[in-house]
Amino acid sequence: MNSLRLRGGRRLKGQVEISGSKNATLPIMAASLMSMGEVVLSGVPDLEDINVMSMALEILGAKVKREASVLVIDARTINNYELPESISRKMRASNLVMGALLGRFQRARVAYPGGCAIGVRPMDLHLKGLRNLGYELTEEYGFMEGKAQGIMGKEILLDFPSVGATENIIMAAALTPGITTIRNAAREPEITDLQNFLNGMGARITGAGLDTVHIEGVERLNGVEYRVIPDRIEAGTFMVAAAISRGEVFLENVVLEHLQPLIAKLREIGVDVIPKSSGVRVIGNHKYRPTDIKTMPYPGFPTDMQPQMMALFAAIPGTSIIVETIFENRYMHVQELRRMGADIKLEGRIAIVKGKTALEGATVEATDLRAGAALILAALFAHEETIISKVEHIDRGYEKIHEKLEKLGADIRRV
Ligand code: UD1
Repeated sequence: MNSLRLRGGRRLKGQVEISGSKNATLPIMAASLMSMGEVVLSGVPDLEDINVMSMALEILGAKVKREASVLVIDARTINNYELPESISRKMRASNLVMGALLGRFQRARVAYPGGCAIGVRPMDLHLKGLRNLGYELTEEYGFMEGKAQGIMGKEILLDFPSVGATENIIMAAALTPGITTIRNAAREPEITDLQNFLNGMGARITGAGLDTVHIEGVERLNGVEYRVIPDRIEAGTFMVAAAISRGEVFLENVVLEHLQPLIAKLREIGVDVIPKSSGVRVIGNHKYRPTDIKTMPYPGFPTDMQPQMMALFAAIPGTSIIVETIFENRYMHVQELRRMGADIKLEGRIAIVKGKTALEGATVEATDLRAGAALILAALFAHEETIISKVEHIDRGYEKIHEKLEKLGADIRRV
Protein backbone atom coordinates (compact mmCIF):
# COMPACT_ATOMS: atom_id res chain seq x y z
CA MET A 1 0.00 0.00 0.00
CA ASN A 2 1.28 3.42 -0.96
CA SER A 3 1.74 6.42 1.31
CA LEU A 4 2.51 10.05 0.62
CA ARG A 5 5.09 11.98 2.61
CA LEU A 6 4.75 15.74 2.53
CA ARG A 7 6.71 18.52 4.16
CA GLY A 8 4.66 21.69 4.42
CA GLY A 9 5.57 25.33 4.29
CA ARG A 10 6.45 25.81 0.62
CA ARG A 11 4.51 28.29 -1.53
CA LEU A 12 3.21 26.51 -4.63
CA LYS A 13 4.18 28.33 -7.80
CA GLY A 14 3.76 27.60 -11.48
CA GLN A 15 1.33 26.10 -13.93
CA VAL A 16 -0.77 22.94 -13.76
CA GLU A 17 -2.87 21.26 -16.41
CA ILE A 18 -6.20 19.93 -15.17
CA SER A 19 -7.23 16.46 -16.43
CA GLY A 20 -10.54 15.38 -17.93
CA SER A 21 -13.45 14.93 -15.55
CA LYS A 22 -13.78 11.57 -13.81
CA ASN A 23 -17.44 12.11 -13.01
CA ALA A 24 -18.25 13.10 -16.59
CA THR A 25 -16.27 10.20 -18.09
CA LEU A 26 -17.92 7.46 -16.01
CA PRO A 27 -21.54 7.98 -17.21
CA ILE A 28 -20.29 8.64 -20.76
CA MET A 29 -18.46 5.29 -20.72
CA ALA A 30 -21.64 3.59 -19.49
CA ALA A 31 -23.67 5.32 -22.22
CA SER A 32 -21.20 3.99 -24.81
CA LEU A 33 -22.75 0.57 -24.21
CA MET A 34 -25.74 1.78 -26.23
CA SER A 35 -23.71 2.68 -29.33
CA MET A 36 -23.92 0.69 -32.56
CA GLY A 37 -20.61 2.20 -33.68
CA GLU A 38 -17.17 2.96 -32.32
CA VAL A 39 -16.90 5.57 -29.56
CA VAL A 40 -13.65 7.53 -29.32
CA LEU A 41 -13.32 9.52 -26.10
CA SER A 42 -10.49 11.98 -25.57
CA GLY A 43 -9.40 13.80 -22.43
CA VAL A 44 -9.99 10.65 -20.36
CA PRO A 45 -8.06 10.76 -17.07
CA ASP A 46 -5.86 7.79 -16.16
CA LEU A 47 -7.53 6.80 -12.89
CA GLU A 48 -8.44 3.67 -11.00
CA ASP A 49 -12.20 4.42 -11.23
CA ILE A 50 -11.92 4.66 -15.02
CA ASN A 51 -10.11 1.27 -15.08
CA VAL A 52 -12.95 -0.25 -13.04
CA MET A 53 -15.55 1.09 -15.49
CA SER A 54 -13.45 -0.26 -18.41
CA MET A 55 -13.48 -3.68 -16.72
CA ALA A 56 -17.26 -3.45 -16.29
CA LEU A 57 -17.71 -2.70 -20.01
CA GLU A 58 -15.39 -5.59 -20.92
CA ILE A 59 -17.28 -8.02 -18.67
CA LEU A 60 -20.43 -7.01 -20.54
CA GLY A 61 -18.70 -7.90 -23.82
CA ALA A 62 -17.45 -4.52 -25.08
CA LYS A 63 -13.91 -3.94 -26.39
CA VAL A 64 -12.06 -1.13 -24.63
CA LYS A 65 -8.65 0.20 -25.74
CA ARG A 66 -6.69 3.03 -24.16
CA GLU A 67 -3.90 5.02 -25.73
CA ALA A 68 -2.71 7.89 -23.51
CA SER A 69 -5.84 9.94 -22.77
CA VAL A 70 -7.93 8.43 -25.59
CA LEU A 71 -10.31 5.58 -24.93
CA VAL A 72 -11.85 3.61 -27.80
CA ILE A 73 -14.98 1.65 -26.91
CA ASP A 74 -16.68 -0.79 -29.23
CA ALA A 75 -19.91 -2.12 -27.75
CA ARG A 76 -21.22 -3.71 -30.98
CA THR A 77 -19.99 -7.05 -29.63
CA ILE A 78 -21.80 -6.75 -26.31
CA ASN A 79 -23.69 -9.91 -25.45
CA ASN A 80 -24.37 -9.80 -21.74
CA TYR A 81 -26.66 -7.68 -19.61
CA GLU A 82 -25.52 -8.84 -16.17
CA LEU A 83 -22.91 -7.02 -14.08
CA PRO A 84 -21.61 -9.29 -11.29
CA GLU A 85 -21.00 -8.28 -7.71
CA SER A 86 -17.22 -8.69 -8.06
CA ILE A 87 -17.11 -5.53 -10.20
CA SER A 88 -20.17 -3.67 -8.91
CA ARG A 89 -18.79 -3.54 -5.38
CA LYS A 90 -15.56 -1.93 -6.51
CA MET A 91 -17.22 1.36 -7.33
CA ARG A 92 -20.53 3.02 -6.59
CA ALA A 93 -20.71 4.52 -10.12
CA SER A 94 -20.86 1.04 -11.68
CA ASN A 95 -24.64 1.38 -11.16
CA LEU A 96 -24.64 3.70 -14.20
CA VAL A 97 -24.60 0.71 -16.55
CA MET A 98 -28.20 0.01 -15.43
CA GLY A 99 -29.83 2.75 -17.53
CA ALA A 100 -27.59 2.02 -20.52
CA LEU A 101 -28.30 -1.74 -20.50
CA LEU A 102 -32.05 -1.13 -20.19
CA GLY A 103 -31.85 1.26 -23.15
CA ARG A 104 -29.84 -1.21 -25.24
CA PHE A 105 -31.47 -4.58 -24.32
CA GLN A 106 -34.62 -3.56 -22.43
CA ARG A 107 -33.13 -5.87 -19.79
CA ALA A 108 -30.47 -5.51 -17.13
CA ARG A 109 -29.20 -7.34 -14.06
CA VAL A 110 -26.78 -5.33 -11.97
CA ALA A 111 -25.38 -6.27 -8.57
CA TYR A 112 -26.28 -3.69 -5.96
CA PRO A 113 -23.34 -1.30 -5.51
CA GLY A 114 -23.86 -1.13 -1.73
CA GLY A 115 -22.99 1.78 0.54
CA CYS A 116 -19.68 3.56 0.89
CA ALA A 117 -17.62 5.48 3.42
CA ILE A 118 -19.55 8.73 3.03
CA GLY A 119 -23.09 7.39 3.47
CA VAL A 120 -25.70 4.74 2.66
CA ARG A 121 -26.32 6.00 -0.88
CA PRO A 122 -29.56 4.17 -1.78
CA MET A 123 -30.78 3.61 -5.36
CA ASP A 124 -34.49 4.32 -4.76
CA LEU A 125 -34.66 7.44 -6.97
CA HIS A 126 -32.98 5.63 -9.87
CA LEU A 127 -35.40 2.71 -9.62
CA LYS A 128 -38.50 4.88 -9.16
CA GLY A 129 -37.63 6.89 -12.28
CA LEU A 130 -36.97 3.80 -14.40
CA ARG A 131 -40.21 2.18 -13.16
CA ASN A 132 -42.05 5.29 -14.36
CA LEU A 133 -40.81 4.56 -17.89
CA GLY A 134 -42.37 1.09 -17.72
CA TYR A 135 -39.38 -0.98 -16.65
CA GLU A 136 -40.29 -3.64 -14.14
CA LEU A 137 -37.59 -3.60 -11.51
CA THR A 138 -37.03 -6.12 -8.79
CA GLU A 139 -34.40 -6.26 -6.06
CA GLU A 140 -33.43 -9.78 -5.05
CA TYR A 141 -30.32 -11.64 -3.91
CA GLY A 142 -28.24 -8.45 -4.04
CA PHE A 143 -29.16 -7.70 -7.65
CA MET A 144 -31.34 -5.07 -9.28
CA GLU A 145 -33.09 -6.65 -12.22
CA GLY A 146 -35.05 -4.78 -14.86
CA LYS A 147 -37.21 -5.79 -17.82
CA ALA A 148 -39.27 -3.68 -20.21
CA GLN A 149 -43.05 -3.95 -19.71
CA GLY A 150 -44.73 -1.66 -22.22
CA ILE A 151 -42.12 1.08 -22.01
CA MET A 152 -43.03 4.62 -23.03
CA GLY A 153 -41.61 8.09 -22.27
CA LYS A 154 -43.29 9.75 -19.26
CA GLU A 155 -43.08 12.69 -16.89
CA ILE A 156 -40.75 11.91 -13.99
CA LEU A 157 -40.45 14.10 -10.92
CA LEU A 158 -37.32 13.40 -8.89
CA ASP A 159 -37.86 13.88 -5.14
CA PHE A 160 -34.23 15.07 -4.99
CA PRO A 161 -31.99 16.14 -7.90
CA SER A 162 -29.76 13.05 -7.73
CA VAL A 163 -26.89 13.13 -10.22
CA GLY A 164 -26.76 9.37 -10.78
CA ALA A 165 -30.56 8.96 -11.00
CA THR A 166 -30.77 11.77 -13.58
CA GLU A 167 -28.00 10.10 -15.61
CA ASN A 168 -29.51 6.60 -15.45
CA ILE A 169 -32.94 7.88 -16.50
CA ILE A 170 -31.52 9.99 -19.37
CA MET A 171 -29.64 6.94 -20.69
CA ALA A 172 -32.60 4.55 -20.57
CA ALA A 173 -34.97 7.21 -21.99
CA ALA A 174 -32.64 7.93 -24.94
CA LEU A 175 -33.73 4.57 -26.45
CA THR A 176 -37.25 4.42 -24.96
CA PRO A 177 -40.08 5.35 -27.35
CA GLY A 178 -41.95 8.62 -26.71
CA ILE A 179 -40.95 11.73 -24.81
CA THR A 180 -39.58 11.59 -21.28
CA THR A 181 -39.50 14.72 -19.15
CA ILE A 182 -37.41 14.73 -15.98
CA ARG A 183 -38.41 17.46 -13.52
CA ASN A 184 -36.18 18.49 -10.61
CA ALA A 185 -33.29 16.96 -12.57
CA ALA A 186 -29.73 17.39 -11.32
CA ARG A 187 -28.07 20.37 -13.05
CA GLU A 188 -24.42 19.42 -12.67
CA PRO A 189 -22.11 20.11 -15.66
CA GLU A 190 -21.55 16.33 -15.94
CA ILE A 191 -25.25 15.94 -16.89
CA THR A 192 -24.81 18.47 -19.71
CA ASP A 193 -21.72 16.57 -20.86
CA LEU A 194 -23.71 13.32 -20.95
CA GLN A 195 -26.45 15.04 -22.98
CA ASN A 196 -23.92 16.44 -25.48
CA PHE A 197 -22.25 13.05 -25.84
CA LEU A 198 -25.55 11.21 -26.36
CA ASN A 199 -26.74 13.84 -28.86
CA GLY A 200 -23.46 13.31 -30.72
CA MET A 201 -24.51 9.65 -31.07
CA GLY A 202 -27.91 10.67 -32.45
CA ALA A 203 -30.02 11.06 -29.28
CA ARG A 204 -32.54 13.90 -28.95
CA ILE A 205 -32.09 15.47 -25.54
CA THR A 206 -32.56 19.09 -24.46
CA GLY A 207 -32.54 20.97 -21.18
CA ALA A 208 -29.54 19.44 -19.38
CA GLY A 209 -28.07 22.05 -17.03
CA LEU A 210 -31.61 23.24 -16.22
CA ASP A 211 -34.02 21.52 -13.86
CA THR A 212 -36.21 20.06 -16.62
CA VAL A 213 -34.70 17.68 -19.19
CA HIS A 214 -36.64 16.43 -22.24
CA ILE A 215 -35.61 13.21 -23.97
CA GLU A 216 -37.23 12.10 -27.21
CA GLY A 217 -36.48 8.40 -27.64
CA VAL A 218 -34.69 7.33 -30.84
CA GLU A 219 -34.30 3.85 -32.34
CA ARG A 220 -30.54 3.68 -32.53
CA LEU A 221 -27.37 5.41 -31.36
CA ASN A 222 -24.25 5.59 -33.54
CA GLY A 223 -20.51 5.96 -32.96
CA VAL A 224 -19.01 9.33 -32.07
CA GLU A 225 -15.76 11.12 -31.26
CA TYR A 226 -16.07 13.18 -28.10
CA ARG A 227 -13.88 15.14 -25.68
CA VAL A 228 -14.90 15.13 -22.00
CA ILE A 229 -15.01 18.33 -19.96
CA PRO A 230 -12.19 19.23 -17.55
CA ASP A 231 -12.49 18.02 -13.96
CA ARG A 232 -13.95 20.85 -11.89
CA ILE A 233 -13.18 19.09 -8.59
CA GLU A 234 -9.53 18.50 -9.47
CA ALA A 235 -9.35 22.16 -10.55
CA GLY A 236 -10.99 23.23 -7.28
CA THR A 237 -8.51 21.17 -5.28
CA PHE A 238 -5.54 22.88 -7.00
CA MET A 239 -7.15 26.30 -6.43
CA VAL A 240 -7.33 25.53 -2.73
CA ALA A 241 -3.73 24.22 -2.85
CA ALA A 242 -2.62 27.61 -4.21
CA ALA A 243 -4.67 29.41 -1.54
CA ILE A 244 -3.59 27.34 1.49
CA SER A 245 0.11 27.44 0.54
CA ARG A 246 -0.23 31.21 -0.03
CA GLY A 247 1.22 30.52 -3.49
CA GLU A 248 0.50 31.55 -7.06
CA VAL A 249 -0.75 28.91 -9.49
CA PHE A 250 -2.07 29.11 -13.04
CA LEU A 251 -4.58 26.37 -13.91
CA GLU A 252 -4.98 25.35 -17.56
CA ASN A 253 -7.88 23.37 -19.03
CA VAL A 254 -10.71 24.64 -16.84
CA VAL A 255 -14.27 25.79 -17.49
CA LEU A 256 -14.65 28.85 -15.29
CA GLU A 257 -18.42 28.69 -15.25
CA HIS A 258 -18.27 25.26 -13.58
CA LEU A 259 -16.07 26.71 -10.84
CA GLN A 260 -18.23 29.73 -9.96
CA PRO A 261 -19.56 28.38 -6.61
CA LEU A 262 -15.98 27.81 -5.43
CA ILE A 263 -14.55 31.02 -6.92
CA ALA A 264 -17.21 33.08 -5.10
CA LYS A 265 -16.18 31.54 -1.75
CA LEU A 266 -12.43 31.88 -2.38
CA ARG A 267 -12.94 35.57 -3.16
CA GLU A 268 -15.01 36.01 0.00
CA ILE A 269 -12.07 34.62 1.94
CA GLY A 270 -9.73 37.07 0.23
CA VAL A 271 -7.99 34.83 -2.32
CA ASP A 272 -7.25 36.54 -5.66
CA VAL A 273 -8.84 34.58 -8.50
CA ILE A 274 -8.06 36.06 -11.90
CA PRO A 275 -9.79 34.56 -14.94
CA LYS A 276 -7.72 34.47 -18.16
CA SER A 277 -8.70 33.32 -21.63
CA SER A 278 -6.66 30.11 -21.29
CA GLY A 279 -7.30 29.34 -17.63
CA VAL A 280 -7.34 30.92 -14.21
CA ARG A 281 -4.67 32.38 -11.92
CA VAL A 282 -5.04 31.89 -8.17
CA ILE A 283 -2.93 34.00 -5.82
CA GLY A 284 -2.85 33.43 -2.09
CA ASN A 285 -1.88 35.88 0.68
CA HIS A 286 -1.71 36.13 4.49
CA LYS A 287 -4.88 38.17 5.07
CA TYR A 288 -7.74 35.68 4.73
CA ARG A 289 -11.13 36.00 6.46
CA PRO A 290 -13.18 33.04 7.75
CA THR A 291 -16.51 32.26 6.07
CA ASP A 292 -19.35 29.70 5.86
CA ILE A 293 -20.33 27.11 3.27
CA LYS A 294 -23.39 24.95 2.84
CA THR A 295 -23.14 22.10 0.33
CA MET A 296 -25.99 22.03 -2.18
CA PRO A 297 -26.79 20.48 -5.56
CA TYR A 298 -25.19 22.42 -8.46
CA PRO A 299 -25.00 25.41 -8.86
CA GLY A 300 -24.66 25.41 -5.06
CA PHE A 301 -21.36 24.66 -3.32
CA PRO A 302 -20.21 21.11 -4.28
CA THR A 303 -20.06 18.46 -1.56
CA ASP A 304 -17.01 17.07 -3.38
CA MET A 305 -15.10 20.26 -2.37
CA GLN A 306 -16.29 20.29 1.26
CA PRO A 307 -13.35 18.36 2.81
CA GLN A 308 -10.79 20.48 0.90
CA MET A 309 -12.51 23.69 2.07
CA MET A 310 -12.41 22.41 5.63
CA ALA A 311 -8.62 22.08 5.37
CA LEU A 312 -8.45 25.69 4.16
CA PHE A 313 -10.72 26.91 6.97
CA ALA A 314 -8.47 25.15 9.49
CA ALA A 315 -5.66 27.39 8.20
CA ILE A 316 -7.57 30.71 8.47
CA PRO A 317 -7.70 32.29 11.95
CA GLY A 318 -11.31 32.84 13.08
CA THR A 319 -14.45 30.68 13.05
CA SER A 320 -15.80 29.19 9.81
CA ILE A 321 -18.92 27.03 9.57
CA ILE A 322 -19.68 24.16 7.20
CA VAL A 323 -23.12 22.59 6.69
CA GLU A 324 -23.09 19.31 4.74
CA THR A 325 -26.56 18.73 3.31
CA ILE A 326 -25.85 16.11 0.59
CA PHE A 327 -24.24 13.16 2.42
CA GLU A 328 -25.01 12.15 5.99
CA ASN A 329 -21.55 10.88 6.85
CA ARG A 330 -19.10 13.06 5.02
CA TYR A 331 -16.96 14.14 7.94
CA MET A 332 -14.50 11.24 8.11
CA HIS A 333 -11.64 13.68 7.48
CA VAL A 334 -12.43 15.62 10.67
CA GLN A 335 -10.64 13.27 13.02
CA GLU A 336 -7.64 13.07 10.70
CA LEU A 337 -7.43 16.88 10.47
CA ARG A 338 -7.68 17.00 14.27
CA ARG A 339 -4.56 14.82 14.45
CA MET A 340 -2.81 17.64 12.62
CA GLY A 341 -3.93 20.09 15.29
CA ALA A 342 -7.09 21.42 13.63
CA ASP A 343 -9.81 22.64 16.00
CA ILE A 344 -13.09 21.29 14.55
CA LYS A 345 -16.34 20.57 16.41
CA LEU A 346 -19.15 18.53 14.89
CA GLU A 347 -22.83 19.08 15.66
CA GLY A 348 -24.69 16.65 13.39
CA ARG A 349 -24.32 17.98 9.87
CA ILE A 350 -22.63 21.18 11.03
CA ALA A 351 -18.89 21.58 11.46
CA ILE A 352 -17.44 24.52 13.39
CA VAL A 353 -13.85 25.16 12.38
CA LYS A 354 -11.68 27.43 14.51
CA GLY A 355 -8.80 28.19 12.19
CA LYS A 356 -5.20 28.50 13.36
CA THR A 357 -2.01 30.14 12.22
CA ALA A 358 -0.29 26.74 12.13
CA LEU A 359 -1.03 23.00 11.78
CA GLU A 360 1.37 20.19 12.68
CA GLY A 361 2.46 17.28 10.52
CA ALA A 362 1.12 13.88 11.64
CA THR A 363 0.50 10.34 10.45
CA VAL A 364 -2.99 10.27 8.97
CA GLU A 365 -5.21 8.09 6.79
CA ALA A 366 -7.09 8.94 3.59
CA THR A 367 -10.53 7.53 4.45
CA ASP A 368 -12.03 8.35 1.06
CA LEU A 369 -11.13 10.22 -2.11
CA ARG A 370 -11.89 13.84 -1.19
CA ALA A 371 -10.97 13.32 2.47
CA GLY A 372 -7.54 12.28 1.17
CA ALA A 373 -7.32 15.46 -0.91
CA ALA A 374 -8.12 17.52 2.21
CA LEU A 375 -5.22 15.88 4.06
CA ILE A 376 -2.79 16.71 1.25
CA LEU A 377 -3.91 20.34 1.41
CA ALA A 378 -3.55 20.51 5.19
CA ALA A 379 -0.10 18.92 4.86
CA LEU A 380 1.01 21.65 2.43
CA PHE A 381 0.32 24.16 5.21
CA ALA A 382 1.55 22.13 8.19
CA HIS A 383 4.92 22.36 9.91
CA GLU A 384 7.12 19.28 9.64
CA GLU A 385 6.24 16.04 7.92
CA THR A 386 2.82 14.49 7.26
CA ILE A 387 2.47 10.86 6.21
CA ILE A 388 -0.82 10.00 4.47
CA SER A 389 -1.66 6.30 4.17
CA LYS A 390 -4.27 4.59 1.96
CA VAL A 391 -3.32 6.73 -1.03
CA GLU A 392 -5.25 4.31 -3.25
CA HIS A 393 -8.37 6.29 -2.31
CA ILE A 394 -6.76 9.47 -3.68
CA ASP A 395 -5.58 7.69 -6.84
CA ARG A 396 -9.21 6.82 -7.65
CA GLY A 397 -9.86 10.43 -8.56
CA TYR A 398 -6.64 12.45 -8.99
CA GLU A 399 -4.40 11.76 -11.96
CA LYS A 400 -0.66 11.94 -11.09
CA ILE A 401 -1.38 14.14 -8.08
CA HIS A 402 2.05 13.90 -6.52
CA GLU A 403 3.79 14.67 -9.81
CA LYS A 404 1.58 17.69 -10.42
CA LEU A 405 2.18 19.01 -6.89
CA GLU A 406 5.91 18.34 -7.10
CA LYS A 407 6.09 20.37 -10.32
CA LEU A 408 4.50 23.26 -8.42
CA GLY A 409 7.24 23.05 -5.81
CA ALA A 410 5.64 20.89 -3.11
CA ASP A 411 7.95 18.68 -1.05
CA ILE A 412 6.06 15.43 -1.67
CA ARG A 413 7.13 11.83 -2.11
CA ARG A 414 5.29 8.59 -2.74
CA VAL A 415 6.65 5.76 -0.59
C1 UD1 B 1 -22.37 11.99 -7.79
C2 UD1 B 1 -20.86 12.08 -7.88
C3 UD1 B 1 -20.28 12.31 -6.49
C4 UD1 B 1 -20.91 13.53 -5.84
C5 UD1 B 1 -22.42 13.41 -5.87
C6 UD1 B 1 -23.12 14.66 -5.36
C7 UD1 B 1 -20.33 10.64 -9.74
C8 UD1 B 1 -19.72 9.36 -10.22
N1 UD1 B 1 -20.35 10.83 -8.43
O1 UD1 B 1 -22.68 10.85 -6.99
O2 UD1 B 1 -18.88 12.52 -6.62
O3 UD1 B 1 -20.49 13.61 -4.49
O4 UD1 B 1 -22.88 13.19 -7.22
O5 UD1 B 1 -22.73 15.78 -6.09
O6 UD1 B 1 -20.73 11.47 -10.53
N2 UD1 B 1 -29.81 9.51 -3.05
C9 UD1 B 1 -30.92 8.82 -2.59
N3 UD1 B 1 -31.53 7.93 -3.44
C10 UD1 B 1 -31.07 7.72 -4.71
C11 UD1 B 1 -29.95 8.45 -5.16
C12 UD1 B 1 -29.34 9.33 -4.30
O7 UD1 B 1 -31.34 8.99 -1.44
O8 UD1 B 1 -31.66 6.89 -5.43
C13 UD1 B 1 -29.14 10.46 -2.12
C14 UD1 B 1 -27.70 10.02 -1.82
O9 UD1 B 1 -27.67 9.07 -0.79
C15 UD1 B 1 -27.03 11.31 -1.46
C16 UD1 B 1 -27.75 12.32 -2.35
O10 UD1 B 1 -28.97 11.71 -2.78
O11 UD1 B 1 -27.28 11.60 -0.10
C17 UD1 B 1 -26.95 12.75 -3.55
O12 UD1 B 1 -26.62 11.62 -4.34
P1 UD1 B 1 -26.42 11.67 -5.90
O13 UD1 B 1 -26.64 13.05 -6.42
O14 UD1 B 1 -27.20 10.56 -6.50
O15 UD1 B 1 -24.87 11.35 -6.03
P2 UD1 B 1 -24.16 10.26 -6.95
O16 UD1 B 1 -24.73 10.32 -8.33
O17 UD1 B 1 -24.10 8.96 -6.26
